Amino acid sequence: MKKFFIFLLLIISCHPEGDDNDFETTPYSLIYPSDVFPTMLIPEDNLLTQEGVSLGKKLFFDPILSSNNAISCASCHIQANSFSDPNQYSIGVNGDFGFRNAFSLVNIGWNSFFNWDGSASSLEHQVFEPVTNPIEMANNWEKVENDLNASGEYRNLFKQAFNIDCIDSTHVAKAIAQFERTLISYNSRYDKWTRGEVMFTNEELDGLNIFTTERGDCFHCHGNINFMDNSFHNNALDENFTDLGLYEVTGNELDKGLFKTPTLRNVEFSAPYMHDGRFNTLEEVIDHYNSGGVYSPTVDPLMKYVNSNPYGIPGQTGLLLTQQEKNNLKAFLLTLSDENFIQNSNFQP
Ligand code: HEC
Ligand code: HEC
Repeated sequence: MKKFFIFLLLIISCHPEGDDNDFETTPYSLIYPSDVFPTMLIPEDNLLTQEGVSLGKKLFFDPILSSNNAISCASCHIQANSFSDPNQYSIGVNGDFGFRNAFSLVNIGWNSFFNWDGSASSLEHQVFEPVTNPIEMANNWEKVENDLNASGEYRNLFKQAFNIDCIDSTHVAKAIAQFERTLISYNSRYDKWTRGEVMFTNEELDGLNIFTTERGDCFHCHGNINFMDNSFHNNALDENFTDLGLYEVTGNELDKGLFKTPTLRNVEFSAPYMHDGRFNTLEEVIDHYNSGGVYSPTVDPLMKYVNSNPYGIPGQTGLLLTQQEKNNLKAFLLTLSDENFIQNSNFQP
């Protein structure tokens, strides 16, 4: 009888639909230079509001999402590291290591695919992965929903943001996605240079030239305003793959060993590098590209200097950059650092 009563109480107190007719939220306007950045596409059913963004931030930093209340999203996505993890592999709630390096979360509102293999097609969808992943937060949504519904504060905040009385996973994901879309960087030295606010040194200018011409050939894949291309490539890291990347999602042979091109914004802060965090420094990354990389059947045709690549430039292996040119390329990559982003108090709990 007692059990039944508690059950009844829960049903009564937890309406799936909102019932407040004068529900109002405050719109949240994203600030970024609209002459250089395309309009960020935001789902019609999850427009940003002050209430939603601030709730999403609270959830992002709250270990309540993990099974033993030990880790939050921010445990693996650390602001000082451009919301990435300085560890090669992140440690989940049970002390287990994952097998991929955590992404930096900067300007991700402009991305069309998420995760190294593109397994999520929206930020809302992506949130579902870490919460239940046994090597990350190892939780289940029923427990998350119960824990949140048991908190008067959260029930209030979800009511204010979404006009719901009963907190569910969909709205948890919506709130976090709203916060993630605010993680915008547009004040790097590179941005200031494009606005004519600072001058590049000769080294940086030469690095830019290497980056944006056939000389270094980086721009083909890291060429949009966020220094990525919303696509997947095999950038000649391995002859044999331990992680099959995009193939895991599509099952297409041609996708074996292809990974999402990561943004290079704040790359100075987001070491280690590549899907498996194999390189600790930008020097190592540049040496990889300068060597041309290694051949495998799915290697990208744009990796033109791979030894014996049938699509490649005959007779040339590697970019043949001098030490000075490698330094200059690095100097250019460092212009993509945005200290304002790393220290922005809007992104702190
Ligand atoms: C245990 C460490 C860990 C935790 C906790 C974690 N992440 Fe991640 N995150 C990762 C790793 C590792 C990846 C790369 C996964 C992959 O590609 O398979 C990732 C990828 C992502 C991406 C994809 C970014 C892109 O550009 O494709 C987003 C977004 C993200 N995480 C958000 C979150 C949110 C939101 C939470 C909390 C609900 C969270 N993460 C919790 C480690 C973590
Ligand atoms: C054919 C497309 C392609 C070209 C050309 C290319 N990249 Fe990449 N880059 C990628 C992909 C894909 C990854 C991720 C690969 C992985 O993790 O398996 C990557 C990763 C990186 C990373 C690691 C970033 C991180 O957060 O882990 C850096 C730095 C980088 N590239 C810089 C460069 C530079 C500099 C050049 C030019 C010398 C260049 N790339 C040329 C596609 C490319």
